[in-house]
Amino acid sequence: MTEPHQPPPSREAILLVGGKGTRLRPLTVNTPKPMVPAAGVPFLTHQLARARAAGIEHIVLATSYLAEVFEPYFGDGSALGLELEYVTEIEPLGTGGAIRNVAHRLRSGPDDPVLIFNGDILTGLDIRALISAHGAAGADVSLHLTRVEDPRAYGLVPTDPDGRVTAFLEKPQTPEEIVTDQINAGAYVFNRSVIDTIPAGRPVSVERETFPGLLADGAHLHGMVDSTYWLDLGTPQAFVRGSADLVLGRAPSPAVPGRRGERLVLDSAEVAADAKLMGGTVIGAGARVGAGARIDGSTVLDGAVVEPGARIRDSLVGAGARVGARTVLDGVVVGDGAVVGADNELRAGARVWCGAEIPAAAVRFSSDE
Ligand code: GDD
Ligand code: MG
Repeated sequence: MTEPHQPPPSREAILLVGGKGTRLRPLTVNTPKPMVPAAGVPFLTHQLARARAAGIEHIVLATSYLAEVFEPYFGDGSALGLELEYVTEIEPLGTGGAIRNVAHRLRSGPDDPVLIFNGDILTGLDIRALISAHGAAGADVSLHLTRVEDPRAYGLVPTDPDGRVTAFLEKPQTPEEIVTDQINAGAYVFNRSVIDTIPAGRPVSVERETFPGLLADGAHLHGMVDSTYWLDLGTPQAFVRGSADLVLGRAPSPAVPGRRGERLVLDSAEVAADAKLMGGTVIGAGARVGAGARIDGSTVLDGAVVEPGARIRDSLVGAGARVGARTVLDGVVVGDGAVVGADNELRAGARVWCGAEIPAAAVRFSSDE
């Protein structure tokens, strides 16, 4: 008699996509962060496609803020070769609470590895390698770690020489707490049984409560440092950078529509013959770019209009927004439907709110030319 066939452990993942995206406003006023287009498709598409390419088949999206927009776009996931499910929190439950709240949709057995991703990370992480490292270490939880110059905005994760996590310090406040440049890169493997130990029905921070609690209880947390491309798209500057890097081919994704290069111009966009588009610039569907405009490393979303002679660098122009003739934008976000009149100069992190209107020649950063 032959043994009944044992299926391989289900390859499933949880994606955390319920954050408010506060630091990205006004981009996230109408659109949750994972649905803001990067390289021509909602950012989440890149993460889903990369997970699929790594063998993940079933993904549960933990939604909260603007939850209603995910399912109409991604549906059952079959277009991406995935099986997608959605679970919406009535009140935001935090990262740990969100993970616990979707546990009933998982199909994995207690000892099976479940992947968990923050929904705003663009990375070349070798997902299979993280799962293998988790198995090899015999860990309860494994974390992808990366090194950054200034770790203060992240979770610090020191490890011992074997890669065993020794502490977890979320957003350190004092210089003494900055004990390492290794940070939580926002991708985890949890043994299913560990997910079930997170308290249900109340907000829990996986970073501030679950990880420190597991360490205090003697659980085995393993850190895998992987120094591949990594970017948290939580700020406008990072978001624009990430989109440009996808277009340029510096950041890997199977979901970029069209060829990698200096520019990505989506269907039905109209670009004047002498306009210059470079540095991974994206021009959205139905957008128009006028004569002599120069756009570098920027994203122009669907239906936006860039008038002749405008110069735009490292900026994002929202859907249906308008940038007037000769206006200069450098490191700026223009919200959906906003109008920046002609001959303005905006720089250095300026955020024009959705629907706002700036008259012609109203703002300058330099003296008159
Ligand atoms: N469902 C749900 N509910 N999702 C949430 C909630 C919630 O209440 N709160 C946050 N999220 C999601 C966000 O949408 C995002 O995908 C992820 O959880 C992380 O939240 P962020 O708001 O982006 O956190 P962060 O960037 O400040 O810090 C996190 O990521 C860093 C790496 O980029 C932490 O995990 C840090 O430790 C880490 O270093
Ligand atoms: Mg983030």
